[in-house]
Amino acid sequence: MSAERFEKKKTIDLRKKHIGPSCKIFFSHDPIKIVQAKGQYMYDEKGQRYLDCINNVAHVGHCHPDVVKAGAQQMELLNTNSRFLHDNLVLYAQRLQATLPDKLSVCYFVNSGSEANDLALRLAWQYTGNKDIITLDNAYHGHVSSLIDISPYKFHQSSDAEQNQYVHVAPSPDVYRGKYRGEHLDPATAYADEVKDMVQRVHKKGGKIAAFIAESLQSCGGQVIPPQGYFQQVAQHVREAGGIFIADEVQVGFGRVGTHFWAFQLQGEDFVPDIVTMGKPIGNGHPMSCVVTTKEVAEAFMSSGMEYFNTFGGNPVSCAIGMAVLDVIVKEDLQGNALRVGRYLTNLLEKQKEKHPLVGDIRGRGLFVGLELVKDRLKLTPATAEAQEVIYRLKEQYILLSADGPHRNVLKFKPPMCFTTEDADLVVDKIDHVLTGIGKVIFIIPEEGHFVAKPAVMQSTGTQKVHTNYIMFFKVTKHWGKTLNLAIVLHCHY
Ligand SMILES: Cc1ncc(COP(=O)(O)O)c(C=O)c1O
Repeated sequence: MSAERFEKKKTIDLRKKHIGPSCKIFFSHDPIKIVQAKGQYMYDEKGQRYLDCINNVAHVGHCHPDVVKAGAQQMELLNTNSRFLHDNLVLYAQRLQATLPDKLSVCYFVNSGSEANDLALRLAWQYTGNKDIITLDNAYHGHVSSLIDISPYKFHQSSDAEQNQYVHVAPSPDVYRGKYRGEHLDPATAYADEVKDMVQRVHKKGGKIAAFIAESLQSCGGQVIPPQGYFQQVAQHVREAGGIFIADEVQVGFGRVGTHFWAFQLQGEDFVPDIVTMGKPIGNGHPMSCVVTTKEVAEAFMSSGMEYFNTFGGNPVSCAIGMAVLDVIVKEDLQGNALRVGRYLTNLLEKQKEKHPLVGDIRGRGLFVGLELVKDRLKLTPATAEAQEVIYRLKEQYILLSADGPHRNVLKFKPPMCFTTEDADLVVDKIDHVLTGIGKVIFIIPEEGHFVAKPAVMQSTGTQKVHTNYIMFFKVTKHWGKTLNLAIVLHCHY
């Protein structure tokens, strides 16, 4: 079956006309049209294969046949809401619970990571009777209003967004670039003390802490691995203040970190959050998510007297799909694969660090890995333009990777969990090639017209000031050949 209904140009035109312009597209000057996918590969309308290094939603592999079959079979039988008894709902809740500490035993099924985190906030407000939320710098927790408020990654992007008075931003526990770094004797305590001080400042102003929320490993924030013991100490400070701990596992859960099923477990057996939110990988692309909490929190939520109803959450089809995802993770030992291939990939990247001064840091757990590019290893000057260059050059070679973090200089690896050592070899080999070439590019423009100037090129020629987050489009004039300085900036695209 051909999955393409329009020629690419028409798809682009229709998208421009009918889809909100703030819905960002990858590689906006030359977007990719994907029509099919399997495993860790995606295919464009011409059948060109791309290696997907970033899609943690297609957790067990794009269009995994077991997951597709489970969904289709249940869809043929019944799909309805959770006001009827259905075994899929309770079976799936039981299966999820078995992956978690005993205390986390009550599930609310919802439909997206945002819905899960929004509900987690409601649970926290209701359980504690308090209002103030502590979040981490550079955090992203979702797109609904309550979550934009607690997502500095987003509200810092907008000049007119005001920080909600109940939201307090603690430093990201980033031991590479953050306030307390690798050389610090006890960064876990230092970062946790920041939260403790924040709690005290909130109290002084008459506020009361409802919750601390953090991703177990920050993803959009730049693939940050918090120092071990940090969560335990934060939880203690927050609980002493009457608040609870919400662990956002929307990006990093379901075995991705290799050694554990949940990334919060990396902190140690003695740490148990009060609420865990799940999303993205949970349905391998099917829109579903979940909030798991304790009996006490759930009972407090009930005591408000308000019914919780969610039309689609926990429907039999979603639950069948969720169970199939869990089955495939076990059957194909994908958690083990994440551990093995993740280690292999990290070792390869470490060698790149020895070879290329631009590589400042390699960090990761399992198949959640970050490579931070810096222009200066002492000053940690972010190599933002170079990171964009890597992403664009890889795309030209049919490899999909992204750059994120507050300076958009961290290359993010979070591929489908069936990623192989051969895939790792391929992508690292290409990165090696691009890093070797950066700074040595000679700009040859064959004819008059528009072209995209690559940031590294612009920097090396020194013809333009490059805004770190922008790719610049130039128009070449007839006289350009004499001097590159005649190039005119036409558009700036993020
Ligand atoms: C950590 C984290 N939490 C929550 C969300 C929101 O999930 P969704 O886009 O499914 O609403 C995201 C999405 O990127 C996320 O990265």
